[in-house]
Amino acid sequence: MRKSLLGLGFMVAIVAGPVLAQETARLSIDASKTGAKIDRNLFGQFAENLGHGLYEGIWVGPDSSIPNTRGIRNDVVTALRALKVPDVRWPGGCFADQYHWRKGIGPADKRPATLNSAWGGVVDTNSFGTDEFMDFIHQIGSEAYVSVNVGSGTPQEASEWLEYMTAAQPTALAKERAANGHPDAYKVGFMGIGNESWSCGGDMTPDYYVSQLKIYSRFVDNVNPSQKSANQMLKIAVGPGFPETEWTEAVMKAWQHHDWSWNFDGLSVHWYTKDKEWPPAMPSTGFGLEDYSKLLKAGLFMDDFLRKQETAMDKYDPEKKVALVVDEWGAWLAPLPGTNKDFLVQQNSLRDAILASMELNIFARHADRVRMANIAQMVNVLQAMILTDKEKMVLTPTYYVFKMYVPFQDSTFVPVDFDPGTLHRDGVTLPRVDAVAARDSSGRLWLEITNLDPEKPVAIDAGVAGMTVKSVKGETLTASAVDSVNTFDLPNTVVPKAISATLKNGRLALTVEPKSVTVISLEP
Ligand code: AHR
Repeated sequence: MRKSLLGLGFMVAIVAGPVLAQETARLSIDASKTGAKIDRNLFGQFAENLGHGLYEGIWVGPDSSIPNTRGIRNDVVTALRALKVPDVRWPGGCFADQYHWRKGIGPADKRPATLNSAWGGVVDTNSFGTDEFMDFIHQIGSEAYVSVNVGSGTPQEASEWLEYMTAAQPTALAKERAANGHPDAYKVGFMGIGNESWSCGGDMTPDYYVSQLKIYSRFVDNVNPSQKSANQMLKIAVGPGFPETEWTEAVMKAWQHHDWSWNFDGLSVHWYTKDKEWPPAMPSTGFGLEDYSKLLKAGLFMDDFLRKQETAMDKYDPEKKVALVVDEWGAWLAPLPGTNKDFLVQQNSLRDAILASMELNIFARHADRVRMANIAQMVNVLQAMILTDKEKMVLTPTYYVFKMYVPFQDSTFVPVDFDPGTLHRDGVTLPRVDAVAARDSSGRLWLEITNLDPEKPVAIDAGVAGMTVKSVKGETLTASAVDSVNTFDLPNTVVPKAISATLKNGRLALTVEPKSVTVISLEP
């Protein structure tokens, strides 16, 4: 997809005034050439019952003084609606394999208080349960991705949960749901069968997990009549959270020989960007250029990680029927000082925004196999979209990247030929620029350009063939420093602003600022 154009891709131009070297990147795009669909579910999110991800971040309860609709924060809902979040994975994560759904239904004052033993052993009131999650999904206009409990649950418990959610017929469980205020069957788009079953989900061997997978796949189903032929629920099996492929091979080999009685549609993999193994120690604020380069370098590994898993999957599924689902990804950094380390609280900087764009671009380039991804996590946890503190809310730089990428949802990939150039810094080598393009259903061409160089702007000279462009516009996200953040007091430090670009004789010209994410639309 990327190739050097006779070595002319990167040039150094001397501009007038003080001697200042400005890099030039040449891009070549033929808008009539199309690739895979960039599935909207690549922009999915993950909301686990962890720290203040759900409680306080989304759920404040109907009696809260924080403006809410049936207990769900209005400010958070409004912000998320603008992202057109395609799906939300819930309730975990490691929490999923300890969750017993019956504790989270019925009148709030009758629900038992339990311990969240996956995350800090804190008391869980269970006031945000299935019906509240479905209400949240409905309010933000998204689709439900539920993870069922394989580790400490049973197939019967999971089967009854799906019946509670999706039965339209007057079964006892459907009547119970109606008595809880929800007569209509819910739609469930995706069902994860366990989570990290090789670790927190039960430390299973691949073979043991495959035997569980077959049973859950066979007996746990969506019974909503509206999802029987069209909009069928997709079942997602556990894949690895490590580059080695033995687990993938075992699960895919079983899939290759599946019969009518069981099946799955996606293989879930988890890959976080961090400085080392555990516990991640890189700070999320107050870091310099060395940490910037190192984290972005680590983020590039996503491409190798996916390639390895894809090669293993191709052996058993060359037609790519099973989707690769990256349902946990993002930067995992050190907990903010003074916070509960089990709550995984970190700030979110311009560096996270650049990382997010790099990862989304990698997913787009793998879109023929990678058809779903869920950033970890939605609110207040890890690389969050949104941070809250009581009644205050702030949108993070990563939020703005997701907003800028909305037009890429369900678009069609268009290859971009370019030489990314090289950036040597602090002992690491990075590409200087990254770029992806796609066409939406109305024929617009969308071009994203990430300038990883923290110091130099890059002049973009892009040849655009295969369409007649009438107008061009765009926006860019950058800030004064790589560790710039938005805070409750200063929420607009890292926000997108308009960028000008010109188009002449089929060539697009613009200058992208150092350390920036830019999205341009070219109107036919
Ligand atoms: O996202 C936090 C945790 O990371 C999830 O619970 C788990 O699946 C993963 O290890």
